[in-house]
Amino acid sequence: MSELVWLNGSLAEAADATVSIFDHGLTVGDGVFETLKAVDGQPFATRRHLDRLRRSAEGLGLRVPYEDEQLRAAMAEVLASHDHPLARVRLTVTGGAAPLGSERGEDQATVVIAVGVLKPVEPSTAVCVVPWPRNERGALAGIKTTSYAENVVALAHAKARGCTEAIFANTVDQLCEGTGSNVFVGIGGRLLTPPLSSGCLAGVTRDLVLEVTDAVEEDIPMHAFRDAEEVFLTSTGRDVQPVHQVDDRRLSTDGALTRAAADAFAALVESSDDP
Ligand SMILES: Cc1ncc(COP(=O)(O)O)c(C=O)c1O
Repeated sequence: MSELVWLNGSLAEAADATVSIFDHGLTVGDGVFETLKAVDGQPFATRRHLDRLRRSAEGLGLRVPYEDEQLRAAMAEVLASHDHPLARVRLTVTGGAAPLGSERGEDQATVVIAVGVLKPVEPSTAVCVVPWPRNERGALAGIKTTSYAENVVALAHAKARGCTEAIFANTVDQLCEGTGSNVFVGIGGRLLTPPLSSGCLAGVTRDLVLEVTDAVEEDIPMHAFRDAEEVFLTSTGRDVQPVHQVDDRRLSTDGALTRAAADAFAALVESSDDP
């Protein structure tokens, strides 16, 4: 079976699907995206991802020229052409073709849906704090844009040090997030995660973990993060993933707060595809 993508309303073979070399997503990173997890062809938390896609697009002043139902149907069609049991569905919306430069053109947005393999998550992982801050007051704070080169640099820095995720502080040295994940910490028996005002993305997994645990949103100074008894990451690809090392410090991965969060999240996933 040939693996298809969906581009601006039509299904196509990936090799035949083309966008303009003047696409504003390509030239200046003017776009937004979502990554959903699909197990046996069934995407998870689609409503929440589509809601966030629209919030991100609004943040950039982009119009998504399709209704949710069209996007859901398109994702189903693309998924049906793939047979990966564990897949990532990538939905991208860019500013479309535009003159070279930062000003957007008159063209309609470019909308792409593509599917790839999702690697199974490791039972625990190591993270490195990177020396560059997230700007919680920047124009793109909290928006899931395709301008992710900062994340590319940070992740390469972390990988070179044997970590699978880079952790950002914000400009006031409080914990923010990872390049593609949110962070929860256990301190003094309480489960905490940075508030959205820290500059982090409103992760879908983060929101769900907040709903099924007693976790609290609270500013976390970096010195408190470095001393935390428990740390775990949340994301579409990682679910709830315990952290066994922060920089040079080893941590236990079977803390009570982490275990309870992982169990509660797993139970939620069992109970619904679109919570
Ligand atoms: C910067 C950033 N933070 C957090 C997350 C986690 O969000 P979600 O749980 O919706 O995957 C992502 C997702 O890739 C991300 O890109």
